[in-house]
Amino acid sequence: MEKVLSEVHLELRCSEETTITRFDFRSSSQSSSCDEPSSSDPEEDLPRGRHVSKNIRLDNDGDIKLRRGKKKRRVARSLSICHSMSTPLASVGLQVWRGALLFAEFVLQSQERFHGAVVLELGGGTGLVGALLAPCARHVFVTDIGEDILKNCARNIEENRHLSQGGVEHIQVRELDWRCPLERPVETSSATFQWGADDLRRMKNLSYLVAADCVYDEPLTDTLFSCVKYLFRAYPSCRSLFVSLEKRVNFSLVDLQARAHAYDHFRTHFTAVEPSQHVPIDVPVALDHAAPMKLLGRQISCDTIGQAFDYDRTCDLELWEIFVDSTKESCAVVEAK
Ligand SMILES: C[S@@+](CC[C@H](N)C(=O)[O-])C[C@H]1O[C@@H](n2cnc3c(N)ncnc32)[C@H](O)[C@@H]1O
Repeated sequence: MEKVLSEVHLELRCSEETTITRFDFRSSSQSSSCDEPSSSDPEEDLPRGRHVSKNIRLDNDGDIKLRRGKKKRRVARSLSICHSMSTPLASVGLQVWRGALLFAEFVLQSQERFHGAVVLELGGGTGLVGALLAPCARHVFVTDIGEDILKNCARNIEENRHLSQGGVEHIQVRELDWRCPLERPVETSSATFQWGADDLRRMKNLSYLVAADCVYDEPLTDTLFSCVKYLFRAYPSCRSLFVSLEKRVNFSLVDLQARAHAYDHFRTHFTAVEPSQHVPIDVPVALDHAAPMKLLGRQISCDTIGQAFDYDRTCDLELWEIFVDSTKESCAVVEAK
């Protein structure tokens, strides 16, 4: 059977099929319970490839004076993640993908945004993103399909509970198949990962959806977007969907050129707006279930996201925030709450 290997694991010299990798990361010491004081010089501590902005002035002799007073302290932490090395396509959730590391870096940098939020992660895989969301969000649901993936994810969440001061009570691993999101129980699901009444009550305050590295196949991307639209309709409090992805370029025999088919297809699902364009999402609206839903997408420049993990962050990695276009002209609104 053909297997795929994530670029994240390329440099790991491991003969085992399954292994535990320590992912070291740096985060600012300001607001999160996932930070600890560090005794080392914060500048020396930054990971490879990170740009350090220094406030440089000259003294009367023309010598450089470094101002050290107001720098943010950056501290080192680590996540321990159990994952497979290479897997068949159906089990890619047992590996860590670069999109997860990029989104995890966004979380580390934007903790205020997720503070008090209820977040549902789609295709959460190994649980790396969820483990970093847990310290700042009010509640996190990490979802995926397949008992092996869900069990591995739950194990990783448990293993990294030290990152959350309050433990892992406010993070749950649940089964959610994009083909039938929360509509009916999946026959194969184990009781451990089934949705309970408390979960569904919490979901009424859903704030964000997250999908890290879930765009790699065109039909699957369509399924993902139907699921997202279903969730936007079912939970009007949900502000947006974050998607991190890698543009995977392949040579196409049909086009006789290199193309990023899955990425191009992803872009057909929404209208891109300028980063500075205002998107009116402040008032939760109940959307007419029969009406078509249009989506808007705003790219978040990766240059604004500090690199906290040590990996090859190529320019093919992107992060998007996707909103319902709730202007009256574009979709039918039942009533504003
Ligand atoms: C490339 S992996 C990304 C995993 C993880 N987010 C990461 O970035 O490391 C894609 C994920 O989507 C999940 N997935 C694929 N099809 C799905 C479906 N129909 N419903 C739910 N999850 C699905 C896979 O199981 C896998 O965990």
